[in-house]
Amino acid sequence: MKEKIIIEGGKKLTGVLNISGNKNSAVAVIPAAVLSGGKCIIKNLPNIKDVYHLKDLLEKLGAGVEMSDGGTMTVDGSTINSYSADSEAAKQMRASYYFIGGLLGRFKKAEAPFPGGCDIGVRPIDLHIKGFEALGARVTIEHGLIKAEAEELKGAPIYLDFASVGATINIMLAACLATGTTTIENAAKEPHVVDVANFLNAMGANVKGAGTDIIKIKGVKELKGCEHTIIPDFIEAGTYMIAAAATRGDVTLKNVIPTHVEAISAKMKEMGIEIFEYEDSVRVKCEKKPKAVNVKTLPYPGFPTDLQQPMVVLLSTADGTSIVTETVSESRFKYVDELKRMGAKIKVEDKVAVVEGAVNLMGTSVYSTDLRAGAAMVVAGLIAGGETIIGNIKHIDRGYEFLEDKLRSLGAGIRRVELD
Ligand code: UD1
Repeated sequence: MKEKIIIEGGKKLTGVLNISGNKNSAVAVIPAAVLSGGKCIIKNLPNIKDVYHLKDLLEKLGAGVEMSDGGTMTVDGSTINSYSADSEAAKQMRASYYFIGGLLGRFKKAEAPFPGGCDIGVRPIDLHIKGFEALGARVTIEHGLIKAEAEELKGAPIYLDFASVGATINIMLAACLATGTTTIENAAKEPHVVDVANFLNAMGANVKGAGTDIIKIKGVKELKGCEHTIIPDFIEAGTYMIAAAATRGDVTLKNVIPTHVEAISAKMKEMGIEIFEYEDSVRVKCEKKPKAVNVKTLPYPGFPTDLQQPMVVLLSTADGTSIVTETVSESRFKYVDELKRMGAKIKVEDKVAVVEGAVNLMGTSVYSTDLRAGAAMVVAGLIAGGETIIGNIKHIDRGYEFLEDKLRSLGAGIRRVELD
């Protein structure tokens, strides 16, 4: 028996919704807690599969972990007695690679499986390895296992060829307890990079410049316990903003930092969609057919690659033809074939998709090829005529908290079933 999501399309989304804690921040902050020998209390964690996988991994390392229903995890790092984050769960997700930075930083020895996660093209980790090596570690990959070891980690200048989120965070983790100063140039500026830096600083680290191109990490002797609240998830917020507009609805999203969704708000305004920004909430109102626009994904503060897929669904309902260029991920258009089976008219050539607007999507059985593709299928199902059945929803569960409950509260006809 496999779980599937069934959506009765054609219902406007209206109402108010609370946005959860940031997934990509949570999956970095949890492994970062291994750097401390004290107790870290991490609040506002989203209730998603990746968080539970990481909890299991922490327990395997020997850490004491408690998790409350309200999304608070307490990690006691004093009992950690292993440097190997190798497990089946670790292979399923990308973020398990943060255990390398964390364990290497604290114990000067770490191993973790080559990361899994979404199949969105080749996702090398050469920049992470380059960073660890610059700090003095020897890194080898044997039988799918990444092993890193050092007698001593020494701060160093590190230039990233690409502003990689993963490499920036992993190097920050490894450098916190190194001797001397590490400088990361061309660092990623995503809000979750800043959140992780704030968490490290709350533990006693000395990280400056997160959120800019240059991050400086002055090594400290040890990190203590702390309390930290994860920032809101701007990708989740963006997904619901897009869903609201696609269904021609009127939705207010609470617990949002409006500047984090600026790239999405700006694009939607360009499309003629009404966006109202408040201190910690955003309202999206869309009554008429939006205009077609061109979208290019870029590292933050550009348009996020994680929202490219749901955005293409919205553009399929727009007036005119849109051109979408993917510059961050290697192959993030695999889901287009599924959308085409619902009636979308999209041509993909290499990293560019030409999306014809004013299309009426029709429900059918579709497959979620990765996490954000799953979100795109959900948005498509919400606007399609008839019933859409989405399979392979394990990806969606890795990243969206209470997705069906949240959408139902806005008036969507969505349910989860077990089917052969
Ligand atoms: C993270 C997010 C993912 C998001 C992506 C871009 C997590 C767990 N995942 O993934 O949701 O889509 O950021 O915002 O936070 N690259 C290299 N070498 C490296 C690292 C990256 O060439 O060592 C290139 C690859 O082409 C890769 C691209 O950079 O596709 C983006 O990678 P990166 O920013 O590191 O993203 P991830 O950490 O994989």
